[in-house]
Amino acid sequence: MATPADDLATAAGMLQKARRLVAFTGAGVSAESGIPTFRDGTGLWETFPPETFAQWDGLVHTALAHPAQLADFLLAVLEPIAVAEPNAAHRALAALERSVPTAVVTQNVDGLHQAAGSTEVREVHGSFLEVVTLKGRLVCRLDRAELRMVVDRLRRVRVGPAKLPRILLALRGLAGPTLHGLTRPNVVLFGEQLAEPDWALAQEDVLGCDVMLVVGTSAEVWPAAELPHLARRNGARLIVVDPGHPGPGGIWIRGPAGQVLPELLRRAFGEAMF
Ligand code: OAD
Repeated sequence: MATPADDLATAAGMLQKARRLVAFTGAGVSAESGIPTFRDGTGLWETFPPETFAQWDGLVHTALAHPAQLADFLLAVLEPIAVAEPNAAHRALAALERSVPTAVVTQNVDGLHQAAGSTEVREVHGSFLEVVTLKGRLVCRLDRAELRMVVDRLRRVRVGPAKLPRILLALRGLAGPTLHGLTRPNVVLFGEQLAEPDWALAQEDVLGCDVMLVVGTSAEVWPAAELPHLARRNGARLIVVDPGHPGPGGIWIRGPAGQVLPELLRRAFGEAMF
């Protein structure tokens, strides 16, 4: 059986020979930036079940019947993103572009791959840093300071009785009525189509890659979870980086992405990578 060191060496060799890479990332890649995952013991869905907070009918019911819970959920989601900075894993994936053409296909909605310098990023579940109309037309992009202002207002709402009108007022700039009509953050809820054009571009990237790095995802949410299988059926080889999940096959390098990815890149391309 291969030892972890053998696996690292094999994976480094695969990166050296790769012609086109896709890094398929999930919540685990941002865990070391302080953003909680969804399904680990302390994951977001443990406290805020998705059927109540991440699909339209549940969300509307929560907003009307339990506005304080809605405010708590929004704070739990937005605050870590508003203060987050890219970690060593995001920076390593951005540095990869200097050696191999690399597209990042992410399920995350935190904008940290772009903040680290990756230039080809497909956000298939959208982004909290984009505001769209209810029909999905882009209205504006936010920076993290603007998101922090929303978070500060939500915190003040939680001091008194969290009535829905106060929550909606706190969300201004991110959601609510504007000159363009009603707006919302550009994040995909359960039951909605994936974000376009990113989803179509992601599938093209996957069909064009010969190596896929699968980083920090339980790969349980479809259709995004189909992408590693699509890559493999198309002949690509997989490298999975995750401390807890073997992923959809290929070489599994067990460990936190912020440690494994820099080490892997150093082995593949030398110290000059960083
Ligand atoms: P999950 O919470 O399902 O999985 C997170 C993965 O990250 C697990 O496999 C962990 O073992 C791993 N992990 C934890 N810490 C890590 C670290 N430091 N380095 C590397 N890996 C680490 O999150 P996702 O797979 O991203 O969708 O979830 C997919 C989708 O489910 C999300 O995009 C979201 C959610 O419902 C929507 O809301 C539509």
